[in-house]
Amino acid sequence: MKPGIFITGTDTDVGKTVVSAGLALVLRGRGMKVGVMKPVATGCYGSDEKLISQDAAFLMEAAQNEYPPLTSPSRFRNPLSPNVAAMLEKKEVDVPNILKSYRELQKHYDFIIVEGVGGLMVPLKKDYYVANLIRDMGLPIVIVSYAGLGAINHTLLTVDAATIRGLEVRGIIFNRVAVANYSLAELTNPKVIHDLSGVPILGSLPNIEGLNMDNCQFGKLKEIFQERIRVDKIAGNLVGAIPQK
Ligand SMILES: Nc1ncnc2c1ncn2[C@@H]1O[C@H](COP(=O)(O)OP(=O)(O)O)[C@@H](O)[C@H]1O
Ligand SMILES: [Mg+2]
Repeated sequence: MKPGIFITGTDTDVGKTVVSAGLALVLRGRGMKVGVMKPVATGCYGSDEKLISQDAAFLMEAAQNEYPPLTSPSRFRNPLSPNVAAMLEKKEVDVPNILKSYRELQKHYDFIIVEGVGGLMVPLKKDYYVANLIRDMGLPIVIVSYAGLGAINHTLLTVDAATIRGLEVRGIIFNRVAVANYSLAELTNPKVIHDLSGVPILGSLPNIEGLNMDNCQFGKLKEIFQERIRVDKIAGNLVGAIPQK
């Protein structure tokens, strides 16, 4: 099986898309053929026949991918949990089709970055959560979190939910950390979370000026990601194996 990573988070809006895009930019910059996938997307826009996921569009721009239906096989208009959006829109989350799209994408790329929807316990359909999809895809995970007050609880809950379900947690990335005037919580939380969970901390990203998902602007995401995130711990020995461009 070709390698890949599933980017999940403690919550929605925590920075999964930004981290997924940053990873895609860095790996692509190192000469890897990187595929991206947003298997289930809600809050999509456009006509019913051609619903667009903003997350998928941003990721595809970062990775320069060419297979839109495979990248985003399950799209819903309502900004709701997928099971509820599916019910309202009289559709369903077609898991076999998602897994088929994933296997098809694997044929085209060296490494696949999959962005989740919400967190691990977001229901996709009856008795089936994001965590189940990750298991069925057979991918390790990276957890995107924040470093401020509340992060210990949210991050440890996510690590526990993953571990109980047999998922391999490669590490935690803190997003939107302060670069000056840290709060006491931001200063102390990463070490506390590492000590209590035993999960590697892969780095942290500050707020990136000029990053704008609405018009696919990355600002200095690639450079900052490269400098501050342990990419080798995510993509394993693949990173060193591919000659840098
Ligand atoms: N490090 C960052 N720098 C600048 N903007 C960010 C950063 N992280 C997230 N954002 C912005 O915050 C919003 C939520 O981030 P996003 O990656 O979409 O979260 P998620 O995918 O977890 O829902 C987006 O508008 C995104 O552009
Ligand atoms: Mg997202």
